[in-house]
Amino acid sequence: MQPRIEHYRGREPSYIKHIFLNRYLEAAAFKLLQPRRGTPVFNFVDAFAGPWRVSDSEDFSDASFSQALATLETVRRQLTRMGRPGLRVRYRFCERDPDAFVKLRRFAAERPEFDIQVFKGSFEDNIDRIAAACRDGFTFTFIDPTGWNMESEKVFAFLKRLNGEFLFNFMSEGINRHAGWDGVSESFGRFLADPDWEREFRKLSDDWSNEGKVLHLLKTKMKRASIATYLPEMAILRPRDNRVKMRLLLGTHHVRGVEVFRTVQKNVETTAVSTRQDVKAEKSGQPFLFPSNQLAEFEAARDGVGCPVHRTRASNLLLGIVAKSPGIGFERLSGAVMEEVPVRATDLNRIAMELHKTGKIGFELPVRKRMPIPETRIWPAAPDQPDLRIG
Ligand SMILES: C[S@@+](CC[C@H](N)C(=O)[O-])C[C@H]1O[C@@H](n2cnc3c(N)ncnc32)[C@H](O)[C@@H]1O
Repeated sequence: MQPRIEHYRGREPSYIKHIFLNRYLEAAAFKLLQPRRGTPVFNFVDAFAGPWRVSDSEDFSDASFSQALATLETVRRQLTRMGRPGLRVRYRFCERDPDAFVKLRRFAAERPEFDIQVFKGSFEDNIDRIAAACRDGFTFTFIDPTGWNMESEKVFAFLKRLNGEFLFNFMSEGINRHAGWDGVSESFGRFLADPDWEREFRKLSDDWSNEGKVLHLLKTKMKRASIATYLPEMAILRPRDNRVKMRLLLGTHHVRGVEVFRTVQKNVETTAVSTRQDVKAEKSGQPFLFPSNQLAEFEAARDGVGCPVHRTRASNLLLGIVAKSPGIGFERLSGAVMEEVPVRATDLNRIAMELHKTGKIGFELPVRKRMPIPETRIWPAAPDQPDLRIG
């Protein structure tokens, strides 16, 4: 379901956040329906559900839980019409604030046709109950805390127990502003699942922003906790000054998840730019020379997913990885590059073919294939290497 921009005045980044969440959920639910035995079960966990600062206090159509429910229900119906019935969706929502919880419970009570369970109190205190309520199937967890107020160790334990993926909203702006302040030392320790986080923080380069350092520490912890193999991210900017407000992080063990993330990012980025332009135009009272959708196209060509700058970065990174891990499979290589750099699988196929043609990497194309397949082994084209180039 497309959120309605008029409900998001003054909080446009949340509009983009919800569009991203919807598109990713849609793709993830369709993916689950790839041929498999038994009835596929999709658990959607909104761990920090709200409602929070919504405009639509009747239907909560501008809250993540309501957006997710509408999106997944549309997918379920679409699949049924396409002759693929049977997707079961469970909704598990948790909220700590008592007033917000009452609203959440009302939302659930008004929709008895859905399998919704609501949990009162902090997510960290409800982990066992929520995990038990998602006992089988694929679990997608949306983690959208207020700032950095979260006990990551417990949240990581939850994510580790379940088979699935998560989308994490990293609140860059607030974290950036507070990271150097003594008063937050303890709460950052809980957020980073490390009371000694400052020791590691201080070792990082002064060229990095505070939020860049905290994000790096968080991602390192997430990988160490084995809750994700890949953690691609996308920044969402404030419309007024184009500063990073938040970053959406996907946690997945699958290259396919990274691929879908970058495709969704590509689709969402034009909406993000035109939304920011519209806000700026409205605030300044001056119309822009170009319509916002055209500006969005310019911006995407300059620094969007798969733009020349990112393709060059991806190409260099790919060469670096192949040099360190000669013979690496193309799927693993693609996952590592797409995690770091906003490019899609189609960009990477072209990059690999180009590097192959110019002799910078070597691989054998399988019979009747025009691109490397996931299992294709990629080698650096060193002089003492057997020449695996074709053509
Ligand atoms: C940023 S808001 C969520 C917004 C919502 N995900 C959306 O996009 O519409 C965070 C919510 O989490 C709640 N909250 C804060 N700490 C929590 C915790 N430890 N466990 C569960 N809920 C919490 C807050 O009361 C607030 O409603």
